Amino acid sequence: MKRVNFKSFTFLLASFLLLVFIFGAHDVQSQDADADPGAGNGIIPFALPQSGPFNAADIQIENNDAIMDWFRSGHANVASEAFRHWDEDEEIRPACASCHSGEGFRAFHGLDGSEAGVVEGPIDVGGVVDCGTCHNAGLAEVDVVRFPSGLMHPVQGVEAACMTCHQGRTAGVNVETAISGMNLDTPNAELRFVNPHYATAAASWLGGYGGAGYQYEGRDYSGRFFHARPVSTCNSCHEPHTLEVEFEPCLTCHQANTPQDIRISRQSYSGTGDTTVGIRADIQANAGLLLDTIKTYARDVAAAPMVYDGTRYPYFFLDANGDAAIDQIDGQPVAYNVWTPRSLRAAYNWKLVTADPGSYAHNPHYALELLYDSIEDLSDPLGIDMDDLNLLR
Ligand code: HEC
Ligand code: HEC
Ligand code: HEC
Ligand code: HEC
Ligand code: HEC
Repeated sequence: MKRVNFKSFTFLLASFLLLVFIFGAHDVQSQDADADPGAGNGIIPFALPQSGPFNAADIQIENNDAIMDWFRSGHANVASEAFRHWDEDEEIRPACASCHSGEGFRAFHGLDGSEAGVVEGPIDVGGVVDCGTCHNAGLAEVDVVRFPSGLMHPVQGVEAACMTCHQGRTAGVNVETAISGMNLDTPNAELRFVNPHYATAAASWLGGYGGAGYQYEGRDYSGRFFHARPVSTCNSCHEPHTLEVEFEPCLTCHQANTPQDIRISRQSYSGTGDTTVGIRADIQANAGLLLDTIKTYARDVAAAPMVYDGTRYPYFFLDANGDAAIDQIDGQPVAYNVWTPRSLRAAYNWKLVTADPGSYAHNPHYALELLYDSIEDLSDPLGIDMDDLNLLR
């Protein structure tokens, strides 16, 4: 994560103190600030503004730890693209604000007194996932979160927050609608890549029940990954302020050196036969194979080679002459525009699985199923024998 400079640090500190004050005062600062105003002065970890309504001595030490942890996390990273994307527009569009700013989130759930379920107007830039996003008395009343598939999923407490923002923006049905009635292997210039969006952990977690993936007809999909008690919510694994995965508790049930090494399955899904590696390695291998297969299909069936560039939207680009370089028109890269229904749905699933770096822990079964089915679907017109690949679903 990029470090913020001192100026924005100070600005941020002032703004979140304001937010703690406005939104968190009742929920978070449970201790009486007047009881011992000098307590903990010696261990306050960084300079707090001494003037104004905020006095260092009024900050509870417990809060201080939470603040410090949060401050180092992605949620507080003011420099991140996830919060800077709208700088030039100088306001965040309502459609984006519910997840890209605490203020937008509160507007979306009606926690600011506005109507629930909609952000009424543009939101000021500069917000992050602040304290009042999760520490908000009104959140307790949000008992259901709508997913892009249309699913209304019941939630409890702070889970409502994580599930709202980490659900992605599309579902398999969007792809289904886009390709409906078209011949599977005929390129259609109207088809555009459907991007599931980013950090789609909650969508992975709900699996087939959440319907985030393109689910092939006639196939069964694993539902929500229940894992094992007491691992039942996002915060069973993620410390809610640092956002890091706390590995120690995993070791009650797993034997591994890192989360990435965890494996329970005794079968190899990737055809390597290697079951000493974490399940993540199987997912990565099959994802790699799927991307290669999509490219082969683009070249051999759609007759229009593609290049994938993960650093720029929309990620899949045209390389009509097959020289491995992205085609340019007027100095601009040409987005891939020779999609067929078959390649589009496979690319969508590939992106969905890889948009969640934690899919191996959030729902390894669903990830493996989507990858397998997508490879199998492409193998048919390519004349690939699935048996030769030795994959497991
Ligand atoms: C359902 C919640 C949600 C909505 C709605 C949403 N986003 Fe996001 N978006 C996220 C999350 C979560 C991330 C964080 C991904 C990461 O960087 O870890 C993200 C990341 C991004 C990024 C950074 C991508 C990168 O490569 O780092 C951009 C740009 C972005 N969103 C644009 C938009 C735009 C534009 C809209 C509105 C049209 C929008 N988002 C609506 C949840 C959402
Ligand atoms: C992404 C959601 C989220 C954000 C943002 C967040 N918190 Fe928390 N916070 C939580 C959760 C979840 C808990 C644990 C509650 C529980 O266990 O019942 C918690 C607990 C706390 C606690 C209790 C002590 C502890 O660490 O468990 C304090 C104090 C606290 N938060 C302060 C803050 C402050 C101050 C901020 C802003 C700097 C903040 N939180 C931002 C989710 C969040
Ligand atoms: C208001 C929307 C919102 C809410 C609520 C929210 N997140 Fe996030 N989360 C984001 C965005 C946006 C990012 C990307 C931030 C960035 O790129 O700096 C992110 C990043 C993350 C990351 C990756 C951190 C990193 O360093 O890259 C994790 C893990 C995470 N969130 C978990 C959670 C959990 C767990 C909860 C609930 C307790 C939660 N989030 C609630 C929007 C949200
Ligand atoms: C079983 C434990 C577990 C649960 C439950 C869990 N996660 Fe994760 N999460 C992980 C692991 C492990 C990673 C990957 C960390 C890595 O490999 O660096 C991860 C990664 C993430 C990331 C990507 C972080 C990054 O570095 O970009 C986000 C965002 C995230 N989780 C959010 C959530 C949300 C939201 C929930 C609840 C819907 C959730 N997680 C539930 C274990 C868990
Ligand atoms: C209470 C016991 C328990 C704890 C604690 C626990 N797990 Fe698990 N984990 C399981 C069980 C049981 C499964 C198999 C579930 C299934 O496949 O339905 C599993 C499966 C997994 C898998 C998939 C392995 C595979 O081969 O399919 C991963 C990855 C994983 N856990 C990661 C984690 C991480 C990371 C943590 C800590 C943040 C954690 N688990 C904590 C019991 C636990």
